[in-house]
Amino acid sequence: MKLTLPTLLGLLTASALAQPVDIESLLQQMTTEEKLGQLMQIGGDHQGFSDKDGMEMVRASQVGSTLGVRGAATVNRIQKVAVTETRLKIPILFAFDVIHGYRTIFPVPLGEAASFDLKGMEETAAAASREAYAHGVKWTFAPMVDIARDPRWGRVVEGAGEDPYYGSLVARARVKGFQRSGKVVACAKHWVAYGAAEAGRDYNTADMSERTLREVYFPPFKAAVDAKVGTFMSSFNEIGGVPASANRFTLTDVLRGEWKWDGVVVSDFTSVEELIKHGIAGTPAEACEAALNAGVDIEMVSRTYLKNGARLIKDGKLSQATLDESVRRVLRLKKRLGLFEDPYVPEGTQAANFLIPEHRQLARVSAARSCVLLKNDKNLLPYSKNVKSVAIIGPLGDSQQDMMGSWNGDGQKKDVTTLLAGVRARLPGARVTFVKGCPVHGVVTDFKTAVAAAKAADVVLLAVGEDADMSGEAASRTSIDLPGSQLALIQAIHATGKPYTVVLMNGRPLALGWVADKSPAILETWFAGTEAGNGIADVLFGDVNPSGKLPITFPRNLGQVPIYYNSKNTGRPWSGKKNEKYASRYLDVLNSPQYVFGYGLSYTRFAISAPRLSAATMDASSPLTVSVEVKNVGNRAGAEVVQLYIQDPVAGVTRPVRELRGIERVELAPGETRTVNFTLSRKDLLYWGPKGGWVADPGEVLVYVGNSSAATGKASFRYVP
Ligand code: GLC
Repeated sequence: MKLTLPTLLGLLTASALAQPVDIESLLQQMTTEEKLGQLMQIGGDHQGFSDKDGMEMVRASQVGSTLGVRGAATVNRIQKVAVTETRLKIPILFAFDVIHGYRTIFPVPLGEAASFDLKGMEETAAAASREAYAHGVKWTFAPMVDIARDPRWGRVVEGAGEDPYYGSLVARARVKGFQRSGKVVACAKHWVAYGAAEAGRDYNTADMSERTLREVYFPPFKAAVDAKVGTFMSSFNEIGGVPASANRFTLTDVLRGEWKWDGVVVSDFTSVEELIKHGIAGTPAEACEAALNAGVDIEMVSRTYLKNGARLIKDGKLSQATLDESVRRVLRLKKRLGLFEDPYVPEGTQAANFLIPEHRQLARVSAARSCVLLKNDKNLLPYSKNVKSVAIIGPLGDSQQDMMGSWNGDGQKKDVTTLLAGVRARLPGARVTFVKGCPVHGVVTDFKTAVAAAKAADVVLLAVGEDADMSGEAASRTSIDLPGSQLALIQAIHATGKPYTVVLMNGRPLALGWVADKSPAILETWFAGTEAGNGIADVLFGDVNPSGKLPITFPRNLGQVPIYYNSKNTGRPWSGKKNEKYASRYLDVLNSPQYVFGYGLSYTRFAISAPRLSAATMDASSPLTVSVEVKNVGNRAGAEVVQLYIQDPVAGVTRPVRELRGIERVELAPGETRTVNFTLSRKDLLYWGPKGGWVADPGEVLVYVGNSSAATGKASFRYVP
């Protein structure tokens, strides 16, 4: 480990001083200014602070944490000032958006969610955390656990899709991964209902019933709390008139009161000061008063706390107790991370050397497992590895930057294997050509070169979709069609009569329309990260049998949005019969989506038996087991994601037609059969009752088991409280 002299001195100083810190006595020593300093988070990068007064603020004990400042030497340099040149020597906590990788970039979270490989997601989070820690980052602003049902919203790419139950499993896995070492703390964001933005327009109003808030948007956050997540981030949006960053109900009544969570809430980027724009604060002082009193502990970047906190205390608008409680949470978090004893980070460690082989391998496996096979007519896929020529056509065929998706940490595009590079590596003896054909955006009408390339090749791969900055923050779209002239490009290749595979690279569900109807094969690959090309080539040429499933519904067109599997029956459910006019339906499009939640094909086939129940009734204290036999009836090994859904057909309030309550990813050799058991208990039946409170009604419960939310394997039991 390379130890510079300043670091050695700092380490000696810190270790000499490192008595187990007594939070209460430290708190008592702190002035109001020092307390407010602990609640201030300022921004920066590899070189240090963005604010020119950053170091001066550190010396004045006005910086409790940072965002974006990273790099072991930079972090140690700043930390040394904090722990040796300030009065109370309180270490700074350095945070960064390590969302799906630090330097080794894994598939975007929506892509990883498609793998339904919870263990894999925990491992990639742990790997990201190791690399982040090696660069001085001890707080990551991840996982983003917002439920999203509107593909217009660009941030759908950052989450685990539309389902509260699955989103909860993913939240748990990622929190456990990020926090595994105990030296890095995760952050459940964005609290709350940020994904319910009206019209899918980022930062827009969210307004819903308390029941929807509790049953759809809260669960992944509660799962993060149960997984011991150390921090939350309050969101930009309002919820029914009360901005989330000044919402006492969500920030205190629920988080602290109901859930008894003692972690730290950080605001989103200037979301405290934005309370003025929301119109619930007239001045920065009022914004500070609203946010701190509601339960936002740390203010990110805007400085209303630092500049107004002392005056609010004097004027009795902010109590000393409230201020102390926020500071106590921050100090406690720093103590739990061992920051007082060990404020520095070792320089030059192995993980700091980036892209260690096991991280690259993890990224390759995750990229392959994130792929969802949407269509495979005549078993066009997988291709033989003996093909002599491959034409890769489309704007995303050789784009290193786009493969990393949005929020790509310190990912370097030079590290990325594109589809072109991955196929060339996989087929060293083949002639692999690349023709861009058209840009992602903009109109092109001449596809002659692309058509010629397709005609000259055995295998034709169309790499199309979105560029990485068309999803993520501040990236909402009013169309979810393939942008630009990409559809025309596909149609020009289609007209050659040559079979081809559409390789989708995108950060949201797309309305595939003609492509879904006409193209012979479609592989959804999202933005698959540093190892994108290798992982996708592994699937295309049969080394990996695709097992991904859609974690979010793909609509037929935008007019259906919002559309999600766990919807209500309504009083006039449509039978699907054309002549049934007075039903909840459209004149021009079916109610069903293009592809349902949980859908994904394989190169083999699996037979799933009808579900068997361990009993005909379930009571409040005795769980019930649901069993199915899964058989690989094809001639190739593969993995199936078996899914269990329930329906409560008669309850105190309307219930969704399906609710996911179990997933199991099983790998089977050809001909192999496995029994999969799911356990259902009272907690799986709970809903937010008509008078509030979690209830489960007596009566029949329907059970569906299969390989998507359209599962047909059915059984039922009676719940007898
Ligand atoms: C951004 C995002 C949030 C991120 C934060 C810090 O605006 O909303 O997800 O963690 O600011 O970069």
